[in-house]
Amino acid sequence: MRAVQLTHYGGEDALQFTTSAAKPTAKEGQVLVKVEAASINAIDWKIREGMMQQMAPVTFPATLGGDLAGTVVEVGPNVEQFTVGQTVYGQTNPFSGEGSFAEFTPINATNLAAMPKSADFIHAAALPLTAVSAYQALVETINLQAGQKILIHGGAGGIGSFAIQLAKHLEAYVATTTAPEDTAFAKELGADEVIDYSTEKFEQILKDVDAVFDTVGGETNEKSYAVLKTGGQLVSMAAAPNETLATEHGVTASAQQTRVTTERLQKVAELTDQGVLKPAIDKVFSLEQTAEAVEYMRHGHHRGKVVIKTTD
Ligand SMILES: NC(=O)c1ccc[n+]([C@@H]2O[C@H](COP(=O)([O-])OP(=O)(O)OC[C@H]3O[C@@H](n4cnc5c(N)ncnc54)[C@H](OP(=O)(O)O)[C@@H]3O)[C@@H](O)[C@H]2O)c1
Repeated sequence: MRAVQLTHYGGEDALQFTTSAAKPTAKEGQVLVKVEAASINAIDWKIREGMMQQMAPVTFPATLGGDLAGTVVEVGPNVEQFTVGQTVYGQTNPFSGEGSFAEFTPINATNLAAMPKSADFIHAAALPLTAVSAYQALVETINLQAGQKILIHGGAGGIGSFAIQLAKHLEAYVATTTAPEDTAFAKELGADEVIDYSTEKFEQILKDVDAVFDTVGGETNEKSYAVLKTGGQLVSMAAAPNETLATEHGVTASAQQTRVTTERLQKVAELTDQGVLKPAIDKVFSLEQTAEAVEYMRHGHHRGKVVIKTTD
């Protein structure tokens, strides 16, 4: 089958398009999906570059890719909730070597749900890891309430663009940090206040916010503790909590490990069908162009999501 495989850790040339990858099968607890579209996440270029190899080495050649939307073509043993022909979306294990940058991918039934009724394959594939990350943080961890103030770092990115939409739906006041060229985009998503991360210091502009949702990490994370009110919450997608700073400012901090579960995907599908979450698609590439697409996601200053259309 057609697939894009990692042949060694490295840059763009480490990802190779092939027409002769072995077609996978659905194992116990899995379904096999004919992939119609896949989206790229930061984890994909991090795996490509070998940044995750200590924690989760892959065996070469490894078909990369996690997020997907497609059609169930085979149901493995002990799967009752999905049927052949059903349109689904979710996240397959990007470390498995049988990922979603391919014509077919096996996926655990627990990481899959029926596609939102209002979304096509391209838009559905843009949702899983990033929209679920925003949902898990804002709804489940922070429990964001109407009238509260949240700072979302990286508002023009995959997670940030969904987080702004969700926070506005929850009737919070939303401040966000973006590059200057993304100010209008963040405002269109619903942000009340957009801070240019390249020329402005958010820590001198904001104070007493109820929550910070950090999709950037590093110094941005460290400087965020000071803008929280006492009792506030910091959730980061990209940095471990700093307990010293948390104690100093009287706040709680956590690092999120997103789990793309059927239940969360169902919530995201509902929010999509209600028009709350509208995936912002920056660019769509073909399967043959996946190496270029991953590099674009890595360095291209994309807005929202980068998607691969796997079928012609
Ligand atoms: N722990 C988990 O379970 C988990 C799950 C998913 C993702 N993640 C991590 O979460 C992070 C974000 O993921 P994503 O998919 O949203 O990535 P993304 O689409 O690349 O978005 C990141 C955004 O941050 C912006 N940015 C860069 N430097 C900034 C700064 N100093 N201040 C404010 N914004 C800045 C980028 O803008 P520019 O384009 O201008 O650089 C970009 O718009 C990644 O590190 C990813 O690995 C973790």
